[in-house]
Amino acid sequence: MTKKVWGGRFTEDINEVVDTFHSSLSFDKRLYSQDIDGSTAHCRMLSKKGIIPEDEATEIINALADIKREMARGGLSAGDDYEDIHTLVEKALIEKVGQKGEKVHTGRSRNDQVALDTRLYVREAITRAKRLIKGLQVSLVNLAEKNITVLMPGYTHLQPAQPVLLSHHLLAYYEMLKRDYARFSDCTKRVNVLPLGSAALAGTTFDLDRSMVAEELGFDSISDNSMDAVSDRDFVLEYLFAASVLMMHLSRLSEEIVLWSTREFGFVILPDAFCTGSSIMPQKKNPDVLELIRGKTGRVYGNLMGLLTTMKGLPLTYNKDMQEDKEGLFDTVDTIEQCLMVLSLLISEMRFNSEKMLNATEEGHLMATDLADYLVNKGMTFRNAHEIVGKVVLFAIDEKRTLKQLTLQELQSFSRQITDDVYSWLEPASAVTRRNLHGGTGTEAVKKSLERAKKEMAS
Ligand code: ARG
Repeated sequence: MTKKVWGGRFTEDINEVVDTFHSSLSFDKRLYSQDIDGSTAHCRMLSKKGIIPEDEATEIINALADIKREMARGGLSAGDDYEDIHTLVEKALIEKVGQKGEKVHTGRSRNDQVALDTRLYVREAITRAKRLIKGLQVSLVNLAEKNITVLMPGYTHLQPAQPVLLSHHLLAYYEMLKRDYARFSDCTKRVNVLPLGSAALAGTTFDLDRSMVAEELGFDSISDNSMDAVSDRDFVLEYLFAASVLMMHLSRLSEEIVLWSTREFGFVILPDAFCTGSSIMPQKKNPDVLELIRGKTGRVYGNLMGLLTTMKGLPLTYNKDMQEDKEGLFDTVDTIEQCLMVLSLLISEMRFNSEKMLNATEEGHLMATDLADYLVNKGMTFRNAHEIVGKVVLFAIDEKRTLKQLTLQELQSFSRQITDDVYSWLEPASAVTRRNLHGGTGTEAVKKSLERAKKEMAS
């Protein structure tokens, strides 16, 4: 068994089962580059402050760079027999430069070290998430542009409600993703704070230059309370929350596409390359990718709930419970990145059956609201118009005809104010010529939204 960094006051070796149980190396090895970057910046500062000799610092820094390259190439060269990534890197360093390598841990604890590594990791994860969100937004904008005039039923309660433009529907997701992007950006403010210099919990007796380390590592500020800095995992929770809301949006979009690709809807033709078949039913083409995105939302929520629960009863400051922050975080990072990537590809290859969508706007009396508005334009109150159109719809359902298939005489039996111009008013396509107020589904309004989105994507 390798010697423990804390072994001095112990007379017995750690129990082997416990050793495996408490080790985090199997997952925190992912933090090797952040850990080495942190140690490098810390070491440079120690030397600048005269806490360790310059020549030794140079040797340590060069060795750390070698270790980073080796780890990037071949994974972990020093074996798996270490407690965590911090001890592993330290041991690898000592193997290279001898005992002076131990000096890198001057004025530092693994408690502020792990907080630092995790912050660096989350910061990078945010950058990647934002890039991928933008990629999906671009796919949605392109798809909306390609289908700018396609008409479809809009739904409430999953009941056909009013005709809308497909492009308007797609751009609704663009807006959600815009907020997701902003949420990730916003949490960067609180992620990008340097905890190093807090040491175990109380700060350190060494005269560290924390601002120098912050600057070297690209942090905007340094933490103001050492006890808070080693205890705080809010920044992980914020990332997990932003990821959860993002997944909720991806899941809703996936669910809609699944629905649209059913035989019953038939609005969407999914690319074969994104579907799978059945081992027994030869006719099947299943939307697995979308179902997986919907399904993976559960684990992302779970990771958020898990860490919230882990943190809720912890006394200050560091407690080993907090090691449990990592697997859920890493899993969430992997999950959202995969989902964003695959969904963006699928969206760019999706095709619509615009005829089927248009036909669907002819069923279900989607023009009822427009007919009521028509009567209001003729001077009626909306409540009265609503009542009358309700009766017209009942009649049409009975007759198994659409509103515009009713004769003028029939329509006039409900209201004398209805005249011949009602038929052009009742064309589903005309519904999107009348809703050009900001944010509406009118063709002109949607074109403006599209232009706005394209400008945003270019900036
Ligand atoms: N593996 C530990 C974690 O992830 C590193 C910090 C260890 N600190 C300690 N006092 N045991 O939380």
